[in-house]
Amino acid sequence: MAGTTRDMKMVGFLQAQNCSIAPGSWRHPAGAVDFTTPEYFQRLGRVMEEAKFHLAFFDDRLALPDIFNSDYRDAVANGVRVVKMDPVSIITMIGAVTTRLGLGITYSTTYYEPFHVARLFATLDLMTKGRAAWNVVTSLNNSEAENFGRTEHLAHDLRYDRADEFMEVVLGLWGSWEDDALIVDKTTGRFADPDKVHALNHRGKYFASKGPLPVPRSPQGHPVLIQAGQSGRGRSFAGRWGEVIFVVYPNLAAGKKQYSDVKAAVAAAGRNPDDVAICPACYVCVADSQAAAEEKREYIRNLAKPIDAVVLLSEALNFDFGSKDMDSEFTDDELRRLSWSGFRERVVSLSGKPNPTVRDFVHYSGRGTIGEFPIFCGTPHAVADQMEEWFTARACDGFVLAATHTPGAFEDFARYVVPELQRRGLYHRDYAGTTLRENLGLKRPSASDWRVPHLREVS
Ligand SMILES: Cc1cc2nc3c(=O)[nH]c(=O)nc-3n(C[C@H](O)[C@H](O)[C@H](O)COP(=O)(O)O)c2cc1C
Repeated sequence: MAGTTRDMKMVGFLQAQNCSIAPGSWRHPAGAVDFTTPEYFQRLGRVMEEAKFHLAFFDDRLALPDIFNSDYRDAVANGVRVVKMDPVSIITMIGAVTTRLGLGITYSTTYYEPFHVARLFATLDLMTKGRAAWNVVTSLNNSEAENFGRTEHLAHDLRYDRADEFMEVVLGLWGSWEDDALIVDKTTGRFADPDKVHALNHRGKYFASKGPLPVPRSPQGHPVLIQAGQSGRGRSFAGRWGEVIFVVYPNLAAGKKQYSDVKAAVAAAGRNPDDVAICPACYVCVADSQAAAEEKREYIRNLAKPIDAVVLLSEALNFDFGSKDMDSEFTDDELRRLSWSGFRERVVSLSGKPNPTVRDFVHYSGRGTIGEFPIFCGTPHAVADQMEEWFTARACDGFVLAATHTPGAFEDFARYVVPELQRRGLYHRDYAGTTLRENLGLKRPSASDWRVPHLREVS
């Protein structure tokens, strides 16, 4: 990253749903329940901007969880991440009440068209004055496929092959307008320079798009690209395209190894590893004393119901966990079919069993509970110590902070931890600029970076 000192990047992990990523959060007495209103999300955005978060980021899934027992009733009755609103409108509402906070949303390369995504994010980037980011995902399960008129989700590596071409098209379209193409001179009547607006004429294996994109370039060139691939194929995709890369580590030792593996994937793609920020997901439970923080953590842990785990494991892994007994082992074939290979490998490695049981998946993944990600727990000093250790040990460049409940978890972090990180010189006291790229220390891409030479005609 540009600049001399390393600056910890902070991302708020948000969901356009009835709970945070921890389904028990909606059951928390202090959890806000006005999640169908703009005020709920605008409040979160204001808290994050006040705390100088670099980015507010929304994950997404294009179906409610209905793979467990082939039914959505349990998920709906228990509020297990069942409301999933479109994040575009929500991020726009947040953008209207903030001026520096980066605004990231997830869009799928498997279920949308490149032209649609290119236009949507280019417009979002203009309307937020260069604060937009796109989390590029290939999606995970058959429920999403069925909502888009397909019978089943595409095979894992094929999704990434398509996604590579999807990115080439989107970046090509984003390069349609050179930075100085607009003239807007009323005296000469000349609006824009046609020599500086380029068609794409892409006809590839999976996509075709003519262009030019009818949206001029934004102040940051184009939106920041986020990725979170974890498998071999996913990681090489992330290494090629990601500017911010999200990861999940079970602990610091594993984190250090994964961090260097991901940086190596960036270098293997011919890019500078310093141009990419790697951020693991985490929770923070902070209070005035260690005992109070631990009490808070245990209270939140107990908000999870057993149903949360099996519903969300079925959703993420595209496999009905209700079809097996708790103690029956997954066969090799069943393991191969699980949609999220990095997730599966984490459970195999943590359990030490090549064929884990349903109970092992529940226990070792922590899915549906706050145990899914590392929890930094304690006084502000103790939490900052843990974050500093991860950061200085080169296990990460920042964090994706998930909420134990909203808005309380972000408010606590802002009030207790941010001043301590700032005092230690680890975290910025103010935004460096107005665009997300400036604030992340990322270079501004040129319009010609992805022009036609990268694209090919396939008859
Ligand atoms: C912090 C984080 C957020 C993610 N958000 C989404 C999301 O919103 N939608 C989605 O379909 N996948 C999401 N994923 C899953 C990844 O895109 C990816 O599919 C997963 O890490 C498995 O990697 P693989 O595809 O290489 O097997 C997320 C992963 C992480 C670590």
